[in-house]
Amino acid sequence: MRAMTYRGPGRVRVEEKPIPPLEHPNDAIVRVTCAAICGSDLHLYHGMMPDLRVGHTFGHEFVGTVHAVGSSVEHLQPGDRVMVPFNICCGSCFFCARGLYSNCHNVNPNASAVGGIYGYSHTCGGYDGGQAEFVRVPFADVGPTKIPEWMDEEDAVLLTDACPTGYFGAQLGDIREGDVVIVFGAGPVGLFAAKSSWLMGAGRVIVVDHIDYRLEYARRFANAETVNFTQVDDIVQWAKETTEFLGADVCIEAVGAEADGAFFQHLTAAKLKLQGGSPVALNWCIDSVRKGGNVSVVGAFGPLYSAVKFGDAMNKGLTIRTNQCPVKRQWPRLFEHVRNGVLKPSEIVTHRVPLDDIAEGYHIMSNKLDGCIKPLVYPNGKH
Ligand SMILES: NC(=O)c1ccc[n+]([C@@H]2O[C@H](COP(=O)([O-])OP(=O)(O)OC[C@H]3O[C@@H](n4cnc5c(N)ncnc54)[C@H](O)[C@@H]3O)[C@@H](O)[C@H]2O)c1
Ligand SMILES: [Zn+2]
Ligand SMILES: [Zn+2]
Repeated sequence: MRAMTYRGPGRVRVEEKPIPPLEHPNDAIVRVTCAAICGSDLHLYHGMMPDLRVGHTFGHEFVGTVHAVGSSVEHLQPGDRVMVPFNICCGSCFFCARGLYSNCHNVNPNASAVGGIYGYSHTCGGYDGGQAEFVRVPFADVGPTKIPEWMDEEDAVLLTDACPTGYFGAQLGDIREGDVVIVFGAGPVGLFAAKSSWLMGAGRVIVVDHIDYRLEYARRFANAETVNFTQVDDIVQWAKETTEFLGADVCIEAVGAEADGAFFQHLTAAKLKLQGGSPVALNWCIDSVRKGGNVSVVGAFGPLYSAVKFGDAMNKGLTIRTNQCPVKRQWPRLFEHVRNGVLKPSEIVTHRVPLDDIAEGYHIMSNKLDGCIKPLVYPNGKH
């Protein structure tokens, strides 16, 4: 089969690989019909993840058709159209039993923090991902679900990560009626976090980024106010001024480990890798939120030390909540929102590339070229 493979920082290409076999009676093999490139894939692409091996296939957002099932799979059959959450989870451990699907204890022998994620290096379990013609799906009765008849394939693929993660970002903010919410990052996750904040009763939603076309998207797609942080003297000061010097009630961090905006942090974290990630946007959240406010962090960070202003968080009495999104937990509510037209996840798709051109897709997404918000990948070359 054809599959995207990692060759080294900034280098990916499509190679021939064997079709993955069933390795366990609970496995399914899925023929991928549509996948996506996520902002998280860029951290891999830029070499930020510790145990990322040459030859690994990325891709944790995908939908497809069941090709084969193991002998103990009960709920899926060959031919079923399925959407697969980016978390691999067993469904029965201590954490899965509490809905913490992204923290499953049985799927990743390499780490005690994160669970398993498709195509996200050996740090996250070493599972090959779905930017390929076929992918192995463990615990096939637990994660995947059949795509409802009424759901578009492109909405379904966005419901495997970007949309639930943005929604989760707003949920972790514990937004109260009338709250001022500032979302840092106008990528897919930030856009969905902004849109979801309204659903949770926000009174004002402000999106911060430095890429104007993305801010334009945030105004149009999420009806948000926007600020380009390079066009104000100091974004924290700006946040204070617009909130009668109290600070926002809720700040949502949807940027992650490669945040721009402070040269030294970006250099030590993203370039020299002396920190587990650049905490620029996270520190802006801590500084911009009011005392006693909530900071929700869905941007991704590595496990190593980062210069986070924890003392300020402590002394302001902040509540900081964070996790990889437990996608499956978000689905019942999000399916209703999509079915009723409250959310149309595929509205953020800007690019559709055949698998064979995936290197170009990464280049465009990484450099934010050509108005890119969300690129989809079509393994069968259609679109
Ligand atoms: N928690 C989860 O489950 C989960 C799931 C998906 C993605 N993520 C993470 O969420 C983050 C965003 O993902 P995405 O797909 O939207 O990525 P993206 O790369 O498309 O978007 C990130 C945006 O942040 C902007 N940015 C950079 N520095 C900034 C700063 N200091 N302040 C404000 N904005 C800044 C960039 O210009 C870009 O528009 C990534 O770190 C990704 O790994 C987490
Ligand atoms: Zn992702
Ligand atoms: Zn589990």
